[in-house]
Amino acid sequence: FEIYLNGMNGTVPRLPTDLSRLEEMAAQRLGPGPVGYVAGSAGSGRTERANREALDRWAIVPRMLRDVRERDLGVELFGRRLPAPVALAPVGVLSIMHPDAEPAAARAAAALGLPFTASSAADTTMEQIAEAMGEQAERWFQLYWPKDREVCVSFLGRAKAAGYSVLVVTLDTWLLAWRPRDLDQAYLPFLHGIGTANYFSDPAFRAGLAKPVEEDPTAAVLHWAQMFADPGKTWEDLAFLRDHWDGPIVLKGVLHPDDARRAADAGMDGVVVSNHGGRQVNGAIGAADALPGIAEAVGDRLTVLFDSGVRSGDDVLKALALGARGVLLGRPYVYGLGLDGEAGVTHVLRCLLAEFDLTMALSGYTRPGELTREALTRPGGA
Ligand code: FNR
Repeated sequence: FEIYLNGMNGTVPRLPTDLSRLEEMAAQRLGPGPVGYVAGSAGSGRTERANREALDRWAIVPRMLRDVRERDLGVELFGRRLPAPVALAPVGVLSIMHPDAEPAAARAAAALGLPFTASSAADTTMEQIAEAMGEQAERWFQLYWPKDREVCVSFLGRAKAAGYSVLVVTLDTWLLAWRPRDLDQAYLPFLHGIGTANYFSDPAFRAGLAKPVEEDPTAAVLHWAQMFADPGKTWEDLAFLRDHWDGPIVLKGVLHPDDARRAADAGMDGVVVSNHGGRQVNGAIGAADALPGIAEAVGDRLTVLFDSGVRSGDDVLKALALGARGVLLGRPYVYGLGLDGEAGVTHVLRCLLAEFDLTMALSGYTRPGELTREALTRPGGA
């Protein structure tokens, strides 16, 4: 409504309100390297397309005459009441999109009361992001589980001290996938020391360097590459994290119901059903195709979250109806940041929430908790 009122004074939004159009605008205005890195995915892009197809295969079946005047988008996640079932996904190297980088996105999330997930691969340290958000703001820390135990323990201690409540452990990125857009442009931000702030500021990491980072940045980047992640990790290793983090732990990148069951057996608190936005395994299952089976398998034991392909309020509704308790928003907020800094992220988040609210109401629902598979149909059959 605010947008229409502003329109009476001749003001129209600076960015599109259809969030799926942001990529196109970002591609026109920002450099091909950064946009290629954000928009790019693994191999031929099959998984990224599968994410959209999986969501688009479901159709909402709106219900009428249900009195939807009083609505509340709020949910409780990990013991905290949130104004909506939406968090910002962990996205590294945000300074390639905008110099204000993570603090700008984190501030936008905090102003709306939504959790911001700080990536291990952020350009700003987790302490700086926490400071930008303010004491009370809900923040989660995403761990790319470092090979070195001391660095890992140091990261967890720093995250706890900086007020991060939930640990999001990414399981699908032990190696960076085959990403043709980055390969063709020979563009990898990390090799330019972008996305290494948490490591370069870490006492345990610095102790392992022959020379200070400032004196030999190339050696520091190479050291980072050896330690970034460990493809040797197994389910047994989760006990180590459980022992060193006393808050909720969420495993990100789960696509098989049996893996979700193992997460529950290992004492985890949640999973993010995600294929990393199609950036890791080309030809993988669309994330929304994996969601119902996982929600059915562990929905009563774990908090099931969802990402990969969310572009609109109706996508949020579908994810919740398929069993997710909340969604993580990825690329759209990153494009918003690139196009208009903090204001761009605010725009994206407000559009998403407004569209979710309207779609929910027009479909006959007043609260996220009312959404079940009954809200959807699959026109093409099972
Ligand atoms: C990511 N993602 C990601 N995930 C993570 O756990 N740690 C990270 O540092 C990053 N970095 C990152 C950078 C960029 C540029 C993108 C696009 C994505 C994955 C992210 O959290 C989320 O899973 C996907 O973005 C979801 O897909 P869509 O909805 O953005 O397509």
